[in-house]
Amino acid sequence: MNWGMKNRLARIINPKTKRCVMLAVDHGYFQGPTTGLRNLGKTVNPLLPYADALMITRGAIRNWISEDMDIPIVLRVSGGQSILKELSNEIITTSICNAIRINATAVTCSVYIGGEFEKQSITNLAKLVDEGEHYGIPVLAVTAVGKDMARDSRYLGLASRICVETGAHIIKTYNCENFEEVVEACGNTPVVMAGGKKIGEKDALTMAKNVIDKGAAGVDMGRNIFQSSKPIGMIKAVRAVVHDNIPVDEAYKIYEKEKK
Ligand code: 5RP
Repeated sequence: MNWGMKNRLARIINPKTKRCVMLAVDHGYFQGPTTGLRNLGKTVNPLLPYADALMITRGAIRNWISEDMDIPIVLRVSGGQSILKELSNEIITTSICNAIRINATAVTCSVYIGGEFEKQSITNLAKLVDEGEHYGIPVLAVTAVGKDMARDSRYLGLASRICVETGAHIIKTYNCENFEEVVEACGNTPVVMAGGKKIGEKDALTMAKNVIDKGAAGVDMGRNIFQSSKPIGMIKAVRAVVHDNIPVDEAYKIYEKEKK
């Protein structure tokens, strides 16, 4: 791995704790104005001081994020479909040149294992990895879960391993029973957890704790942070679980203590 690639990865995953709290706010690329992100800047800007990285699209950055922010950007570069159509039908929507111009620290795309356009999404990842390695830009692969996919370690392990073998530098996948098997299947490639649909704050913290205990390098959470009634309290609590190994009950107190 070249120096630039290592340096960029170290900006995302803290080299001291080997952990990361990434804030995912890229939902609009296929969901439109997702609850909590209609005015993305209003929701996201107050959370930036607590995020190690921000997963976002180029359009959202230009509209809602100031150029003087200094959080590493993990730029969503796949899309081309919507919730009204087949989700796996993605293409690369942002060129590597544009990603560099935006000063992205990493780029990201989804991979739909078992989806109708599985091969196309793996091809997107492979192309990005080739370009990323040329320019020293890491690629985060999201194992996107279609409606009919089981969220178990067998499926998530299969999807994650295919992303690893295709060359992804970070894997984003979902919490499941026996999560350690998914981590093991990824070798030395860091694994971060996607949050999924909004659930109770304590349950979301328990999920984060589970993956950290089973070897994840951190989380890349969206709705369970920005749709919380106290988003700052929630991201602080998630940080405590991820970076400080704090038990869920104590982390929950951090969330509760925060003002609305
Ligand atoms: C969509 C994504 C989102 O970033 C991902 O779903 C994370 O957000 P959440 O925690 O809300 O699920 O990668 O494919």
